[in-house]
Amino acid sequence: MRVLLFIVSSAEKAAQMLTQMDPKEFRILLGIELGMSEHEFVPVEVISKYSGFDSNEVKFWIGELDKKGLLWRQIENYVGYILNYTGYDVLALNALVKNGILEALGKSIGVGKEADVHEGLNQQNQKVAIKFHRLGRTSFRNTRRKREFVGDRKHISWLYQSRLAAEREFIALKKMALIGDFVPNPLFYNRHSIVMEYIEGQLFSEIIDIEEPDKFLKVIINCIKNAYNQGIIHGDLSEFNIMVNLDEKIKIIDWPQYLTLTHPNAKESLERDVNNILVYFKRKYDVGMNLQDAINLISSK
Ligand SMILES: Nc1ncnc2c1ncn2[C@@H]1O[C@H](COP(=O)(O)OP(=O)(O)O)[C@@H](O)[C@H]1O
Ligand SMILES: [Mg+2]
Repeated sequence: MRVLLFIVSSAEKAAQMLTQMDPKEFRILLGIELGMSEHEFVPVEVISKYSGFDSNEVKFWIGELDKKGLLWRQIENYVGYILNYTGYDVLALNALVKNGILEALGKSIGVGKEADVHEGLNQQNQKVAIKFHRLGRTSFRNTRRKREFVGDRKHISWLYQSRLAAEREFIALKKMALIGDFVPNPLFYNRHSIVMEYIEGQLFSEIIDIEEPDKFLKVIINCIKNAYNQGIIHGDLSEFNIMVNLDEKIKIIDWPQYLTLTHPNAKESLERDVNNILVYFKRKYDVGMNLQDAINLISSK
């Protein structure tokens, strides 16, 4: 007998579950979500307070949600619950559907360390991209150190970090979409998810050959300048965060870690971004530009 194994992503599982949810289960999930802002694990009394159900009913519905695989239970010291990623995905997807943003979730198009990206369809049957931020998936400590924007809060759940990352990315995309189409157009965000324009094309890193590399280099430097003019530095720029669409237009993606020009590391990050690109073009296409000239070009009026 053959066993066929296939991996269903968290969001795909959430989309499936969405069709099987009892309205009361949503209230419990929302209660846990609210409780997670003040509790590392949310006790039944707190879920009861937020959902308006008595503790027996809460326990019953928690059992149902547990069967669906939407939460985690901890039993050390006290019994408490948190949403897992699929539980949080259910809440976000539900909101996207309710707001008329999303009609269907499609296949996974990118699994990174800190995000999952899926295709989707909007109500007009057009393709969109949905990015689910997943911070704290690797190591909580690491992401905390890396993300200075979390600030000084004592208890920071992965849920809060992921929501903040989505919000930041959405805000940055909005600002840049105002002045050009060098980023995917952001359509909506909810919780840890962003819905944006789907870029039909390829990652720059996957492109084998281009005819006029120096032209592409200039366009990319100009995109960095456009972002800079909006007060934004990417902060994680490389050939892996640049896409080329079917019209050979450059789109820069993946902005949650962006820095503003007043950030103490702004200059250093800009130099690193630009240097990554220059090194890549030199190595792959043997075309180049002086780093300081590129920086001057970007930061001049
Ligand atoms: N708007 C989009 N349209 C099409 N594909 C996208 C879009 N945004 C992201 N992707 C795909 O998903 C992958 C991961 O997205 P990205 O924003 O770089 O997140 P991360 O690198 O943190 O996982 C990308 O490498 C790209 O293949
Ligand atoms: Mg990326």
